[in-house]
Amino acid sequence: MKIIIIYSSVDGQTRNICEYIKSSLTVENQFVEILNINNTQELKVDEILDYDKIIIASSIRYGKHNKKIENFIQENYEVLNSKKTAFISVNLVARKTEKSEPTTNPYVIKFLNSIQWKPTIVAVFAGKLNYKIYTFTDRILIKLIMLITKGPVNSKTEIEYTDWEKVDSFVRKFDRI
Ligand SMILES: Cc1cc2nc3c(=O)[nH]c(=O)nc-3n(C[C@H](O)[C@H](O)[C@H](O)COP(=O)(O)O)c2cc1C
Repeated sequence: MKIIIIYSSVDGQTRNICEYIKSSLTVENQFVEILNINNTQELKVDEILDYDKIIIASSIRYGKHNKKIENFIQENYEVLNSKKTAFISVNLVARKTEKSEPTTNPYVIKFLNSIQWKPTIVAVFAGKLNYKIYTFTDRILIKLIMLITKGPVNSKTEIEYTDWEKVDSFVRKFDRI
């Protein structure tokens, strides 16, 4: 079984989640490749043809998934639809229980409605908030978003909202498809 995980991550949390999934999936007879789309010039469809299962993951920044990820999905939805696949969205809105599922997370609902790819599994994981590493402008804007959504606004806040048990159950589900 050959599996590829293609991801985009700016601050590292989506990468951490994907690395965790890779290590959980790496068992006998399973070969798992992991690829940061931002390290490639342009990801070509030939590079995924060989794989039996594909996971595509992206974090949200200012309401959008990564452009390279979105373009790759749009251009290759037919190949993706012919394979066993999963889509993962990582964002902070998902820290709220009522927005933590693919059917209730606004970014995922909007994105899935705008594309022709029908992933076999869709997952949403809450990301990480870490004001210290943001640029001045990002920090102000994220604080504003947090203020509106009743989240922490202290500049020292560093909180990992990712529910790793939820990631574990994703892995079990992905193993079964
Ligand atoms: C500049 C910036 C913009 C963000 N915009 C959003 C947003 O619009 N909605 C949201 O739910 N989370 C937003 N987030 C939170 C990220 O999705 C979250 O921190 C995630 O863990 C980032 O993943 P990464 O570390 O893989 O880049 C934003 C974070 C940053 C730094």
